[in-house]
Amino acid sequence: MTVSAATHEHANRLAIEGGEPVRTKPLPWELPGAHWIGEEELELVSRVVRAQSPFRFYGPDLQHMVDTLEKEWCAAFGHKHALGVSSGTAALTIAMSALDIGPGDEVLVPGYLWVSCVAAVVRAGAIPKLVDVDDCFTLDPADVERKIGPNTRAALMVHMSGAPGRVADVARICRGRGIALIEDCAQTAGASQNGKAVGTFGDIGIFSFQLNKNMTSGDGGMVVTERDDLFRRIVALHDLGYPRNEKGRLDTSDETCQLWGVGARMSELTGAMCLAQMRKLPQITGNMRSSKWRIRDALADLPGLGFRTVPDPSGDTGPFLLMTLKDEATARRFVDALRAEGIAGPSGSLACLAMREWGMHWYSNIPSLVNKRSDSRNGFPWTHPSNAFGQSYSYAAGALPHCDDLHARGALLTIASTLTPEDEADIIAAVRKVARVVLA
Ligand SMILES: Cc1ncc(COP(=O)(O)O)c(C=O)c1O
Repeated sequence: MTVSAATHEHANRLAIEGGEPVRTKPLPWELPGAHWIGEEELELVSRVVRAQSPFRFYGPDLQHMVDTLEKEWCAAFGHKHALGVSSGTAALTIAMSALDIGPGDEVLVPGYLWVSCVAAVVRAGAIPKLVDVDDCFTLDPADVERKIGPNTRAALMVHMSGAPGRVADVARICRGRGIALIEDCAQTAGASQNGKAVGTFGDIGIFSFQLNKNMTSGDGGMVVTERDDLFRRIVALHDLGYPRNEKGRLDTSDETCQLWGVGARMSELTGAMCLAQMRKLPQITGNMRSSKWRIRDALADLPGLGFRTVPDPSGDTGPFLLMTLKDEATARRFVDALRAEGIAGPSGSLACLAMREWGMHWYSNIPSLVNKRSDSRNGFPWTHPSNAFGQSYSYAAGALPHCDDLHARGALLTIASTLTPEDEADIIAAVRKVARVVLA
């Protein structure tokens, strides 16, 4: 063998089998908004600090960061109402209570979700009912239709991994069957479908600004709705259960709005961070979307590699490339081989994973759901007499066949918002190299 043939063979041999890796430099951290934190965030946060006014409702020199964020959010995405809150998890809990959901009710949830989605249902005293996902990795409209029963009060459409699925179909079914639709847009800030922003299809939408999200303030969230009646309840619930007067003081006099609040206000510091980040959101999501679709298009011809269906790629925000392989063993081998080729982030990042490694995003990986755990001694809400209808519901693996299949043979690549053309070329080269051997 000539020297150059030997070198060529070495470069072609998979790194996992002793060959040369495609790259050795880690890919950038996934965390889309974090890369963009800079002078603008510093300036707005500093204004709040200098004004000594970090509380949104009153203070010596209020800077109205949260107010401005909410106004700009409504203007950017076409919502009638938006309210800054402390987290996406709190936003979900507020949404359940705003819709008056409690014991005796069930809420439809997909099998690919995040633990917060079921936590909100259970904390409200209601019962989650699992619905299968389709090739978009989101609620399957046909299964929503099948699963609606006499106790169903709402469906929670979770726009997972950056892009909405068949949300218009789910919204139409919910309207037709008289149940509410909550959109969990925690992972899709800035996303849309056919020109309509996520969060405008249902009754209430929620967002998260936690570190992994398209824009971030470390922690934070947003609740949106087009309905005045719901917004009034949402405002009271996110605070101390009551509305506030024009001076920002609690108003207990209105008998039509005396609730139990969850203490999830957004501070002015968080509002300042969010405001600076939302102004950068089009650029952040634009970068991820372009990188993701360049990579996906370059891999489209590979036999044995499937992709999540995205009904409207122009509304995708792009932070994840979801892939499917022929079976679980292949998915495992594919991911291990890619990591060995250097398709990995810095230590601690989750850049390249088999779906089996993707924790509490899959219903059967949530121990408190599978084991029907309670935060109280009496087993509430599972033991509540009004919830007897849910006693036969199982949340263990096997409950949702299509979801279980995607869980077993799926893989994901995170798409950082700062990928260079070289990073993209390396990802494409590594997937093509691995596919030649692993998917042969
Ligand atoms: C789909 C989904 N819903 C809800 C949440 C909860 O958001 P947070 O972490 O802000 O409470 C997250 C993120 O963690 C999420 O990914």
